[in-house]
Amino acid sequence: MRQTHLTYSDRVNMGAYYTRPDLVNITWEMLAPHLDRKTVVLDSSCGYGGFLEHPQRLAKIGNDVDPMAVAVAKQRLPNAAFFNTNALAGVSRAQYGIRADATLCIIGNPPYNDRTSIIRNRIKSSDVRIDRDIETRDLGMSFLLSYHKLDADVICVLHPLSYLIKPANFSLLHRFARRYRLLDAKIISSATFGEASQVTPFPIVIALYKKIPGGMDYPAIMDFSFSVSGSHSFRLTDFDYIANYVRKYPDKQARARKDSLLFWTMRDINALKRNRTFVNTPSQHTIVIDQRKLDYYMYIDVFKRFARHVPWYFGNCDILIDNALFQHHRRHFILESMANHPPLKPFFPQINPPGKQHLQSSARKIDEYFQRLLGPHYVT
Ligand SMILES: C[S@@+](CC[C@H](N)C(=O)[O-])C[C@H]1O[C@@H](n2cnc3c(N)ncnc32)[C@H](O)[C@@H]1O
Repeated sequence: MRQTHLTYSDRVNMGAYYTRPDLVNITWEMLAPHLDRKTVVLDSSCGYGGFLEHPQRLAKIGNDVDPMAVAVAKQRLPNAAFFNTNALAGVSRAQYGIRADATLCIIGNPPYNDRTSIIRNRIKSSDVRIDRDIETRDLGMSFLLSYHKLDADVICVLHPLSYLIKPANFSLLHRFARRYRLLDAKIISSATFGEASQVTPFPIVIALYKKIPGGMDYPAIMDFSFSVSGSHSFRLTDFDYIANYVRKYPDKQARARKDSLLFWTMRDINALKRNRTFVNTPSQHTIVIDQRKLDYYMYIDVFKRFARHVPWYFGNCDILIDNALFQHHRRHFILESMANHPPLKPFFPQINPPGKQHLQSSARKIDEYFQRLLGPHYVT
């Protein structure tokens, strides 16, 4: 059921984008083997209760900080119990009347937004109270930590893939990761949530976790097979990444000189799509290029122009590279980048400035490179 009672800024503030029934069904299918008659199912950010609307006859509990949403949920689902509290403050099973010895399953689509986000801060309330031990810079990560605090046995929720695949995020979730193991993960696009992603679509995962001693470590995530709606699946270890060759972030010690070449920070593929590559003015976001590695920066510059061939589900990954193949095609990448950034020409005197025909043939070679780099993931 579409959410209808909130304004745009309320929706952004509360991350209130309700989930489509087909995605709710997938979540229940993933959970099914892990439920028994006695399992208690909780959605601590339930909106209108979409995730609790399922024929399984289990004890169902919903909660939302938004009283209007809870009022609607109560009317729709008279057999479930509902609460209207902040799920991130005073987190405990007692808050929802759940016994300590009950088998607890968490389901849902908690809000995710970056509490430190600069761009949209104007309309973001960062004043929701959050228990100190689960406080992070992103509401959704705090929700994951709250499930750990509730000592959930099994969890199946939607959250940005970046929580798992970005090492900095994964380490913020270390307490969660030490206790829970990812068992299944299906990737969907944030575009599914319409207005929530007027920005470049990013990958969201429907993730199934189970409490298992030892939990999971980052190498396990690198080697995890993520499936994408449709037919693809991929592991992060299927690819090599640019971070193995050049700096992605500024070195605070490096001072830009007058003749320095500068490059914009590249957080991930989606950020590269939005940002510039070579820039003229130094700032806290610019990298001073090590000129011995200039060809790799030109590779990234070309990658940006060919990024339409890279599928949306790699949006939060680091820039992919097949180094041996790149070395083979290096000349074409340099020609292509030089054509767009003429000041780079003097750095490659042995490579002649390209004519129009040469450029077309380089573009074809680069396209072949991307087909081989991406294999079945290549977007035509
Ligand atoms: C992405 S929506 C999901 C709603 C519902 N689970 C669904 O998928 O249809 C997130 C919900 O989290 C609620 N929410 C945001 N912050 C919360 C908090 N601190 N405690 C409880 N609920 C919260 C919002 O009101 C919103 O209804």
